[in-house]
Amino acid sequence: MPDTGLLRDAALPNPLPAGTVAVIGLGYVGRPIALAAAAAGFAVSGFDLDPAAAAAAEAAWRGLGAPGRLSATADPARLPAAQTWLICVPTPLDAAGRPDLSLVEAALATCVARLVRGALVCLVSTCQPGATNGTCRRAIEAAGFAVGRDVFLCVSPERENPGATDGPRDVPRLLGATDEASLARGRAFWERVAGRVIPVASPEIAECAKLLENTYRLVNVALMDELHRGFAALGVPTRAVVEAAATKPFGFAPFWPGAGAGGHCIPVDPEFLQMELARVGAASSLLAAAAEANRARPAAVVEGVARALGGSLAGRRVLVMGVTYKPGVADLRGAAPLALLRLLAARGAEALWHDPLVAEGPGPLAPFVRAADPARCPGGPPDAVVLGTPQPGFDLAALPRLAAVAVDPFGLVPGGAAAGVRVV
Ligand SMILES: NC(=O)c1ccc[n+]([C@@H]2O[C@H](COP(=O)([O-])OP(=O)(O)OC[C@H]3O[C@@H](n4cnc5c(N)ncnc54)[C@H](O)[C@@H]3O)[C@@H](O)[C@H]2O)c1
Repeated sequence: MPDTGLLRDAALPNPLPAGTVAVIGLGYVGRPIALAAAAAGFAVSGFDLDPAAAAAAEAAWRGLGAPGRLSATADPARLPAAQTWLICVPTPLDAAGRPDLSLVEAALATCVARLVRGALVCLVSTCQPGATNGTCRRAIEAAGFAVGRDVFLCVSPERENPGATDGPRDVPRLLGATDEASLARGRAFWERVAGRVIPVASPEIAECAKLLENTYRLVNVALMDELHRGFAALGVPTRAVVEAAATKPFGFAPFWPGAGAGGHCIPVDPEFLQMELARVGAASSLLAAAAEANRARPAAVVEGVARALGGSLAGRRVLVMGVTYKPGVADLRGAAPLALLRLLAARGAEALWHDPLVAEGPGPLAPFVRAADPARCPGGPPDAVVLGTPQPGFDLAALPRLAAVAVDPFGLVPGGAAAGVRVV
């Protein structure tokens, strides 16, 4: 840790008085944090380039009916200076599959233009190791502030699992900072807003830990996808194998096969780690293989559908059941079932979809035919049905009755291969 000369500040019980918080980016991550900060007594200003996101944050706050203050805007001119700045913008991959930090840089520019001495900047977006100490530090120092003396800097990567947890208090927050004074300020803020805070010795540890979590998931999901086909060839049901292995009280965490890990985190975050590993000449071949296997998974599933239909998909009608990136959410970002639909259509099939959580409308599903009721598909029963995402409420036992061929990448349909279901 650099000697900032401010280590004495770490001894202050709570160097951050109740104050103002600005949250930049009010999406899946920023909005609940903004609400939690307001509920904790901070006066919160939200900023999002998208007026709908700003309006949604204000509406969510009104809906809580809690005392406190939260306002949000899409107009940067209306964003006041704040004591604590949280950067919660997306960190996607670019068209070439490389990490794209341009939105973080833009958010930093918004923040830095309003920084005052004593402010704390916290990076929440998932970034590569070095983003806090590099990209963020440089932006702050370029504005003439010394990090750790004038302005304080930390990183607390988001670890929520939207749809599965209730908000920022559910998952302990990792916190890394550039210096002791920043760590103390970050800790005081997050302990009020998020409950359990786990300080780590450097920003890079927090950044790498977040990336490791999702790299671990990607590698294990890819392994299960591959073993699923192998277990099926051996005539052994995958789910039963994993459930049996998971009875071991140590050394094993269960992962499940599927149509491909999608969403904005599992396929994306490991690329941030890989980018930095490659930079230092230590790229992970295992990670690269898992990422490639995951990218190829939807094509392997579609190939399984084609084989089950005799080799060609041309003119065949295939229903994809469940189209979101994971069960229980309406989120289509990076959803593997979308890739299934596109690949089916590219091979000449008529691609249909059913999902109780997704309303018909413009967007990535527009080119495909919606089946509001999978038992009454437009144009009659499909030739094949494939489980895209096992949405809650799906009658999986009934899946094989929807079409002559049922394809299950998840190993979830009761009876499995023994009941004539195609395992891919
Ligand atoms: N969603 C999750 O489940 C999840 C979980 C853990 C970590 N993360 C990480 O958290 C970060 C945010 O993800 P998210 O899911 O909330 O994204 P999101 O797309 O839901 O929301 C981000 C918001 O930021 C806004 N935005 C983009 N650039 C901006 C700018 N320069 N200024 C102001 N607003 C801007 C967008 O309009 C959008 O509303 C990402 O790094 C992501 O990887 C997400």
